[in-house]
Amino acid sequence: MIANFPTDVIAATRKYIYVFRRRGFIKPTSYFVLLLCLSYYLGYLSTVSKNPTHEPHQHYSTTTSSPPSKVVVDHYQFQTRCADPIPSQFIRETILNYVFNGTSPYHDFPQPHIKPLLRQKKINGWGSTGAVFRNLIHKVRPKTIIELGTFLGASAIHMAELTRELGLDTQILCIDDFRGWPGLPNQFQDIKMVNGDTMLMYQFMQNVVQVNATEAIIFLPFSTASTLEKLCEWGVFGDLIEVDAGHDFHSAWLDINRAYKLLRPGGVIFGHDYFTAADNRGVRRAVNMFASVNGLRVKADGQHWVLGSF
Ligand SMILES: C[S@@+](CC[C@H](N)C(=O)[O-])C[C@H]1O[C@@H](n2cnc3c(N)ncnc32)[C@H](O)[C@@H]1O
Ligand SMILES: *[C@@H]1O[C@H](CO)[C@@H](O)[C@H](O)[C@H]1NC(C)=O
Ligand SMILES: *[C@@H]1O[C@H](CO)[C@@H](O)[C@H](O)[C@H]1NC(C)=O
Repeated sequence: MIANFPTDVIAATRKYIYVFRRRGFIKPTSYFVLLLCLSYYLGYLSTVSKNPTHEPHQHYSTTTSSPPSKVVVDHYQFQTRCADPIPSQFIRETILNYVFNGTSPYHDFPQPHIKPLLRQKKINGWGSTGAVFRNLIHKVRPKTIIELGTFLGASAIHMAELTRELGLDTQILCIDDFRGWPGLPNQFQDIKMVNGDTMLMYQFMQNVVQVNATEAIIFLPFSTASTLEKLCEWGVFGDLIEVDAGHDFHSAWLDINRAYKLLRPGGVIFGHDYFTAADNRGVRRAVNMFASVNGLRVKADGQHWVLGSF
């Protein structure tokens, strides 16, 4: 099959070159001529190949020859095509079914062995009650909010209170792996650790229970990357999306790109830490790059960035 052809050719040629080099049959000049022909041939093959699943061969094929003069690096492609949006009133049920086998994770919470490990309420956050939340919730009146990065729930609980105030029947989806970050137990000694397992998720749940927000707030305790791919596949979209998980450039870039695909028309995506010094290399760079690639404008609201076509 032509699709498997380049790999076989590479393998065979490598072997061929290796054997001949060992035997001293090839002079350096003819070795380079051979490599030149090989690169040309492979380049030709990969251009005529229309099947995108075989693209990686282009990159691997260059290991036996000199580096190609122009490597096309495309970090702008996020391939998944999302399902059609499901109505917002079905979102909670969809998530309970797919993620929690049909049972609310708050059911029978906390278990007797967990309860003594939790504080009755322990909410710390970062700019989690900034004016931006009120401004955007009043403007967008969201039915569905997706939050990337929840920690103890400070911003999610604040949003639940704001939407409750407005009488909106808003479903808030919190995406967080609830691992925090390496070093968390030294910084937050109230969040217990058991055999290396942080109780962050349980403390977050306890906080949600304390403020009676278990209907408004549901969570997906996984990485943002895998979760956003799934939401896309299930057709779960948001009217308002907050990005506040990994703050390094690559994490922020992936999160913003993936999250933006889940934004309903007329929705707003925003996030924290646009102005801190470190985020000139991290969040701010990702936000600015995303805005310029997609022809969007960045607005600042306190420490937050807001993206839209204002
Ligand atoms: C700054 S905190 C979120 C704060 C919260 N929005 C607030 O206002 O209180 C960042 C959170 O992102 C989570 N996080 C970081 N990288 C993640 C990833 N790749 N997937 C899922 N969660 C992640 C961490 O566990 C942490 O709880
Ligand atoms: C999921 O739910 C089904 C039906 O209620 C049950 O039979 C099954 O044991 C559950 N699976 C897990 C992993 O709890
Ligand atoms: C939560 O509900 C309980 C009982 O319905 C009530 O006593 C309590 O004050 C409520 N707490 C908040 C923060 O609304």
